[in-house]
Amino acid sequence: MGNTDWEQCYIEGDTPWDQGSPSPVLVEYLDANSVTGRVVAPGCGSGHDVAEIARRSDLVSVLGMDISPSAVGLANTRLGLEALANASCEHADLFDLQQHYNGQFDWVCEHTCFCAIDPTRRSDYVNAVHQLLKPGGKLLAVFYLSPKQREDGVAGPPFGCSIEELDALFDGRFVLEESRVPEVAFPGREGRELLRVFRRNPE
Ligand SMILES: C[S@@+](CC[C@H](N)C(=O)[O-])C[C@H]1O[C@@H](n2cnc3c(N)ncnc32)[C@H](O)[C@@H]1O
Repeated sequence: MGNTDWEQCYIEGDTPWDQGSPSPVLVEYLDANSVTGRVVAPGCGSGHDVAEIARRSDLVSVLGMDISPSAVGLANTRLGLEALANASCEHADLFDLQQHYNGQFDWVCEHTCFCAIDPTRRSDYVNAVHQLLKPGGKLLAVFYLSPKQREDGVAGPPFGCSIEELDALFDGRFVLEESRVPEVAFPGREGRELLRVFRRNPE
């Protein structure tokens, strides 16, 4: 479970999750809310979301990161073409990132990273996000509740999650500020996603 060779997927161009544009849910959120300061986007893939956040404001600096070097290359090419000096992308494993960026971010912006990791590592994911954020920093997440069954019959990724599981995972160290099934979505994901904003507790 969860042994996807992400780098191979990008080398082969086998990236069906990449819709060629930022998450509609993220775009809708950014239209209505200000996201400023230092932002990290884990599992950013080819960087659509990183670029979208960066082009909104000079008051934001965005670090995309991904475990696939080829994805990082695609993202940095995109950022370079758009001359987005307030954004960059780095090759890293989310589970190691806090060693270098402990408590440095105002926001973690998550889209299809949580659903990509092995479900047995979800507590590690919460730990990593907690350690990356400053006290009071926020996690903006577009979770995938119920992805369509894969055509090859493999369980995932993407791996779905329940609201109860999310509640249990984040309880105690984060305060839930917003939670809703968004009205906008990529085709095929309508009603399957959940937007959540968590604030990291001070301690
Ligand atoms: C389903 S893709 C989504 C990519 C991008 N968010 C998008 O929507 O196009 C999941 C991404 O997470 C990355 N990834 C998986 N495990 C990771 C890890 N442990 N650390 C960092 N990135 C990871 C993969 O390389 C891949 O780019």
